Amino acid sequence: MKSSVKAISLMLVVMFLAVFVAACGNSSSSKVSVGIVLPTKDEPRWVQDEQRFKDALKGSKYTTEILFSQGSSAKEKENVDALIAKGIKVLIICPQDGDAAAAAVESAKKAGIQVISYDRLITKTDAVNYYVTFDSVAVGKAQAQYLVDHAKKGQPLYLYAGAASDNNAFLFFQGAWQVLQPKIADGTFKIANSSEAVALKGNKDLTREQLSKIIGQVTTNWDANEAKNKAQTHLTAAAADMKGDVAILAPNDGTARSIADVFGSDKAVTSFVVTGQDAEKASIQYVIDGKQSMTVFKDVRTLVKDAMGMAVAILDGKTPETTGSYNNGKIDVKAKQTNVIVVDKANVKSALVDSAYYQASDFKGL
Ligand code: BGC
Repeated sequence: MKSSVKAISLMLVVMFLAVFVAACGNSSSSKVSVGIVLPTKDEPRWVQDEQRFKDALKGSKYTTEILFSQGSSAKEKENVDALIAKGIKVLIICPQDGDAAAAAVESAKKAGIQVISYDRLITKTDAVNYYVTFDSVAVGKAQAQYLVDHAKKGQPLYLYAGAASDNNAFLFFQGAWQVLQPKIADGTFKIANSSEAVALKGNKDLTREQLSKIIGQVTTNWDANEAKNKAQTHLTAAAADMKGDVAILAPNDGTARSIADVFGSDKAVTSFVVTGQDAEKASIQYVIDGKQSMTVFKDVRTLVKDAMGMAVAILDGKTPETTGSYNNGKIDVKAKQTNVIVVDKANVKSALVDSAYYQASDFKGL
């Protein structure tokens, strides 16, 4: 009897110690002050952001953890909950879907965490404290201006857009449309692949609802395969007068490369100008090779620096610096915005290699 009591108490002590050690282990190794959640590893853009965060965080006294949502809002919510459980004070999050991410950041807000929306705005919630972003309207304007600058009179224009679940897709298209519309109205361009855009060609400024209609028709969903299929469908349906020398508004590099491949293999397309965005390495090679006309370089180092700068200010009890605000459908979110740079064959080396963003050895024929 006595010895079994002894054995049980010894067992309890051992169990208690085990739990205690595990708890200590947790609090020392997994306490994280800044949580970072990025949308997917399947696009080079976000893998690039992860690397730039890692570079920027070397030697930092703050602990951080980066998680990927892999294109799923449910996974994103799980990631945020896991980071909340680890005691983060600041959440830096690029939403997979701007509306759907509201639930995740509302949980963070309840836990007293400050939320920084990163690159993409989280919409229809008051649980976003700050927004760090590139000038996305300027991205769209730059893409469109490139098409205008290289246009031939009466040229067919193919329009493509990003995912409707991403607020940026609206900003990019809105910026592009403001520049393209007068040139559609004066006959420089004829729209080849969107009846909704044709119906709205008299309006320079489009409402969100009008933008939705066009984006609904020409979305790529930020998916290179979907972009490829759409481009094939459009070219199959196009009459002869919608081929020849064409202009293509492609929203980003991943979609631009697959759209360019489709247009490049159609014999009735004699030449094309195609836009892009992100300065992905594969697209820089396309630009060097003359297969993609331009890209918009968004220096992720700056975005990461701004996001971490904000996070550190918050952790230090200071108010982060902002330059303006963005309405997210519920509140005006204080924002810090960064400029973008147009890159084509002429300045690819000075913009990307001389600035040490990439190395010359990353490319062939530079
Ligand atoms: C980003 C782009 C990116 C796209 C697809 C947008 O929100 O601003 O840089 O190419 O999402 O991931």
